[in-house]
Amino acid sequence: MANITVNLKVWRQAGPKEQGQFKTYTVATDTDTSFLETLDILNEQLVEKGEEPIVFDHDCREGICGMCSLYINGHPHGPATGATTCQLYMRRFKDGETITVEPWRSAAFPVIKDLMVDRNAFDKIQQAGGYVSFNCGGAQDANALPISKEAADLAMDAASCIGCGACVAACKNGSAMLFVSAKVSQFALLPQGQIERARRARAMVKRMDELGFGNCTNTGACAAECPKNISLSNIARLNREFINAKIKD
Ligand code: SF4
Ligand code: FES
Repeated sequence: MANITVNLKVWRQAGPKEQGQFKTYTVATDTDTSFLETLDILNEQLVEKGEEPIVFDHDCREGICGMCSLYINGHPHGPATGATTCQLYMRRFKDGETITVEPWRSAAFPVIKDLMVDRNAFDKIQQAGGYVSFNCGGAQDANALPISKEAADLAMDAASCIGCGACVAACKNGSAMLFVSAKVSQFALLPQGQIERARRARAMVKRMDELGFGNCTNTGACAAECPKNISLSNIARLNREFINAKIKD
């Protein structure tokens, strides 16, 4: 462990309609402290001085919930790959470094305050079709419904999407295709997802378009920044699902 001092250049914005600006704070921390804990230290100092603490989203701090939506030094979730902001430690930064911290930047994710954005749009997409709504009876015996290992693995990989929104923040078009493709894929690959398969793809893509997300131009920035390594192959699957749904129409 080494003690370090960093300059946090943080986006401060009093409310959704207020104009924001960067403000730089110097904070002493150490390399074994997490990035969010460093923000906690800074907030304690601000409160002691009678200043407004910095508002930022977080919950589990274990890489599970997808709440910690910070754009750090030009990357959603910061410089680490395959990790969320809450899994980022200060050993990634140098003593004396200036670290720029911004909220997700997307028309579909308006800033609520400081570093916190409204990701309700993701919930609305989920509500459009990210579920199974028919009665599938009681719990199945593990062997009663055979699922191939390949399909089970792919579905599980897709289901590991935590809905953080880093894919949208990373995309120059603000596209939500990686998120939607993961949510559609996890059902399309399993027997339980078949009954509503076409309706789900159609409804979730329609809702995504209505909510102001941009179009996908296959730059791959989403998958490169995704903390759960959701594969671009899910986007190819979503395109196939959507075309098949349209043919059924
Ligand atoms: S696809 Fe990845 S980056 Fe996008 S919401 Fe899911 S976990 Fe986050
Ligand atoms: S706080 Fe839950 S994933 Fe980071």
